[in-house]
Amino acid sequence: MEGLQLIATGGALPGRLVTNEDLSRVVDTSDEWIVSRTGIRQRHFCTVDQNAATLAIDAARQAVARSGLSPDQIDCCVCATLSGPCASPSVACQVQRALGLPEDRPALDVNAACSGFVYGATVARGLLATLGGRYALVIGCEALSRLMNMEDRSTCVLFGDGAGAAVFELAQGAVFAATLGACGDDAIRAGGPNLTGSSPIEMDGKAVFRFAVGALPRCLNTVLDETHLTLDELDWVVCHQANSRIIDHCVRHLGANPAKFYKNMDRHGNTSAASIPVALNEMVESGLLIPGQTVACVGFGGGLTWAGMLLQYKGAEQ
Ligand code: COA
Repeated sequence: MEGLQLIATGGALPGRLVTNEDLSRVVDTSDEWIVSRTGIRQRHFCTVDQNAATLAIDAARQAVARSGLSPDQIDCCVCATLSGPCASPSVACQVQRALGLPEDRPALDVNAACSGFVYGATVARGLLATLGGRYALVIGCEALSRLMNMEDRSTCVLFGDGAGAAVFELAQGAVFAATLGACGDDAIRAGGPNLTGSSPIEMDGKAVFRFAVGALPRCLNTVLDETHLTLDELDWVVCHQANSRIIDHCVRHLGANPAKFYKNMDRHGNTSAASIPVALNEMVESGLLIPGQTVACVGFGGGLTWAGMLLQYKGAEQ
């Protein structure tokens, strides 16, 4: 099957900045504890008029504008989220309407928690191949602050809100590989029927940590093997930004160059499905990720789920 290439990205972070210092006034914690255990220093929370869909629309609009494509060239819209404002209309359908994407193409949400963006891109690839399209808009967006128990210090310090979006092109001969997996386990639970925090995020942190440090290198090695690339030949690795210690553990285990592993959890916390596209967007905006480079994206999280994808950043046609 043809592979995906990254054409353009977009991002949106909500307006309320919450520092570790702010949280230490709400629960019994400290900046020192949070930074040393997670690498997180601050996160953004939605204001009252923001939610996962409003962030998704902002990020998607930016990605499509930067792609140089018109909305009617987008052949499918897939949104990864577990914290949309309502189950229906899906966030993807809200994006379709806001951006004026064609009505005769699919728009759907995917829930694979923190693996969601890579799952979403893989679903989009299948839709393009099946329906004969060329360009996909894939979004990861979360308003996890709406699902948090702000009295539980073991979880409320970890998560943040945000959205990232990417326009992909399906291309013959593209450098591309993907691997997805799942194993039903409730080590992370989030959200009840009305997504208002009545069933807030609960997590067995130690179990998730052990799972993550196994899944991350496994996914990365799988996509490297499939593309016949070595880690030295790969330009970038963008892991789900849950915890800097998980990424450091993976770097040590692989004997890798840590500079290849982008990190931004210090500024955003764990934004679940949004974390990988938010990181990609920052890397493009700051000139770190440049056209022609290869990047592996690796997600792991609730479900439990895991997902890896290796592809090339092509950039938009000038
Ligand atoms: N501030 C201060 N102390 C805290 C705290 C906080 N925010 N949260 C927990 N603690 C305390 C605990 O109560 C415990 O105290 P005790 O020893 O008196 O019982 C102590 O710190 C150690 O708790 P523990 O849960 O063993 O810490 P940890 O070293 O496992 O770190 C996590 C906790 C959550 C940071 C870590 O398990 C982790 O990162 N797990 C992976 C989570 C993750 O990435 N999830 C998302 C995946 S998508």
